[in-house]
Amino acid sequence: MSEFKTQEAPVADEQARPILTHEKSLSQKIARGSEAGDILDQQMLMLGIQLITQLNVLIKTSRIYERTNTALDKPVDAMLTLIKTMAHDRPVTLRLQNDFLFLWDSHLKVSAQQMAVATSILDALNARKIGGITFSVTMESKDLREFAALFVSLDPNITTIEDLRNQITARGIAGIELEEQRKLKIKEGTGTAGNKGPDGTQSINLKMQRKMNAKNGYAKVAGSVGALTQSVREGGTISFKQAKRAIQNIVDLMMDDEATVLGLTTLRCHDEYTHNHSVNVSLLSIALANRAGYPKVELADLGLAALFHDMGKSTIPMEVLNKPGEFTDDDWAAMRNHPTEGVLSLSKLRGITNLPGRMAAASFEHHMNLDFSGYPKLTVPWTLSLTGRILTIADCYDAMTSSRVYRREPMAPSKVLNIMFSKSGKSFDALLLKLFVNCVGIIPIGSLVMLETSELAVVLKPATDKANTERPFVKVITDPQGNPVDHGREVDLTEKDETGDFRHNIIRLIDNTEYKFDTSRYFV
Ligand SMILES: [Fe+2]
Ligand SMILES: [Fe+2]
Repeated sequence: MSEFKTQEAPVADEQARPILTHEKSLSQKIARGSEAGDILDQQMLMLGIQLITQLNVLIKTSRIYERTNTALDKPVDAMLTLIKTMAHDRPVTLRLQNDFLFLWDSHLKVSAQQMAVATSILDALNARKIGGITFSVTMESKDLREFAALFVSLDPNITTIEDLRNQITARGIAGIELEEQRKLKIKEGTGTAGNKGPDGTQSINLKMQRKMNAKNGYAKVAGSVGALTQSVREGGTISFKQAKRAIQNIVDLMMDDEATVLGLTTLRCHDEYTHNHSVNVSLLSIALANRAGYPKVELADLGLAALFHDMGKSTIPMEVLNKPGEFTDDDWAAMRNHPTEGVLSLSKLRGITNLPGRMAAASFEHHMNLDFSGYPKLTVPWTLSLTGRILTIADCYDAMTSSRVYRREPMAPSKVLNIMFSKSGKSFDALLLKLFVNCVGIIPIGSLVMLETSELAVVLKPATDKANTERPFVKVITDPQGNPVDHGREVDLTEKDETGDFRHNIIRLIDNTEYKFDTSRYFV
């Protein structure tokens, strides 16, 4: 079995291509427990991601095509190749537990881009109460095809895992076995402890669970805003239901753990600026509104309004939006028009019968500024709504901390706050701006700081102790020499030693854009 060759990958897209092209199974060359063994584990996890990607393609394709259709060739061949590469002394087992995916007993950590695939696999397996799938190296193309056909044909609502197993036997599918779901107990307040595989004894801490829920929530909101924007561009009908459900979920998560949800706003996916921006503005607006005493039951509506504040940009041609060079006067005129265009596009949508005032305000007022120094310019007296004033702050903060096409470099969060403070009471409502700083912190979430030990750390959440707002909660990410460390310790900078002195101190703020550190990875 080991003498196979991974031929030129049969799948076109980059993400789907198996990454290993050596002749023998990698694991045969490396002794377990060696340093190289760690590299092997990394490689295995990367292959695991490939495996779930292909499994996802296979399931989706099987919903449309017959098992013998050539459309299934690519995912089937890729999966067989992957299984052969990965399984040399044991079959490959994918497991899920409490919304985490595992390859054998190692957590498959997914990036922001892979979140959609992971969520899709988790949903598909969860719906059928499957806790794991094992693929043996003896599995053949026909087995996979038959299994996928079976998997999508049975109604998950009435099918038990036993039914599935019986069908697997009845249809002569070999090399694929299913495991039951096992729920782990979640132990609260375990700090950095436990977070092991699903072997039953260790507990996954609540923090990870929350993080994963928040990430999934973010992905769902981003997905629905993407679909809705697309639908608006194509002039189609629109359904806000999905977006609203996704936002409500975010509001619930935010009530539980604001810092984790806000940590997600440091996620930057450069080609998807508008979607990310919309989601971030929505999250920041919800947090700010919550602190400003906005009625809780209306937070989701506000979040939804914030999500579509830039809808008017759908009337601006893509070439202008993505223009790398300077904007012409015409381009700027179109840009300055987007708040008004937004109200028009929103009111024309067939899915909306009465355009909610909050939604109209979010779009119309978000660039006006408190002193009306922004746009659109009005010739009639106007009172800015609370929604508009909240949006102005959230929008400006996110726009300046993200990189976007016409200004490639994002700005460090603390720099942005400084600039915004210089306009407090002018562009921004002074009270709301103060409340906003309470959400993101004086040294905002995602900032990079140097501790007096010369270690670099990233700010995870603002200080809980209001008397020490300049002492946030951080995670160490490098050693004193500046070498990155994984699983660095988390430090509460308000912590004091026996003599009453602070244990750790920040000696300076680091411009993360200068150091090209992507701090977002510490949140996901
Ligand atoms: Fe805007
Ligand atoms: Fe915006």
